[in-house]
Amino acid sequence: MQQKIYKDYHTLSLHAASEIIDLLTNKPEAVLCLASGDTPRLMCKLMTERAIKEKVDFSRCTFIGLDEWVGIPPENEGSCHFFFQTQVFKPLNISSSQVHLFNALSENPVQECLVMDKTIHEKGGIDLMIVGVGMNGHIGFNEPGTSFYNYSHVIDLDSTTTTVGQKYFSQPVPLKQGITLGLKHLMESKKAIVLANGLKKAAIIKKVMEEKINNQIPASIIRLHSLGILMIDEEAASLLKKETSG
Ligand code: F6R
Repeated sequence: MQQKIYKDYHTLSLHAASEIIDLLTNKPEAVLCLASGDTPRLMCKLMTERAIKEKVDFSRCTFIGLDEWVGIPPENEGSCHFFFQTQVFKPLNISSSQVHLFNALSENPVQECLVMDKTIHEKGGIDLMIVGVGMNGHIGFNEPGTSFYNYSHVIDLDSTTTTVGQKYFSQPVPLKQGITLGLKHLMESKKAIVLANGLKKAAIIKKVMEEKINNQIPASIIRLHSLGILMIDEEAASLLKKETSG
């Protein structure tokens, strides 16, 4: 794993956006999986602006959804669907046939998971995953304690996630479960990038980098990915020991 520290959120987002543009330029049929949320918001904006300006071909790629809140409809502004629809798919004219997101309203979520795993397999695996880190160290909705060997699954959300998750919604919503890709998907992706910015992420980034790799800190698994990169800004890196901050 590599660690890259950037001076601020904007610079971090610019570099993360370049990772997507470079991949799509070299491999237009790439399979991409991005997180939604506050961390990748600017990356998505900068990426779509560059893609439009440089006429990067996004017509052949595939988007795999990382996760979704169970029971939250796609038109809800706090859903991962809504994030991608507004931040990425609409600006880039991505057709629905290119997109595979979890249906969080499905009556058979286990079947949803099997279909997602099969889709990823049939597409030849994920080329690039760019994920955020929760305040509790989760990746996607792989909450503390989740096995490193899981593929897609439905999970009871941690209380940190249900509390922090309210920030995406204009009104309080009951959040109980999530449907998510597993950490095995992250480890099997050809390249995996974990993004974090801001002082609020400094404490968890310190744990991710300096504590023993273990499933109580799910994001610590990135240290085992040979083509993994932890991309953070100086604020998120501010509690790292000198030797781990590079
Ligand atoms: C969202 C997701 C979550 C977030 C994480 C950080 O699709 O998978 O794991 O990446 O909770 O959220 P933000 O970026 O809002 O701090």
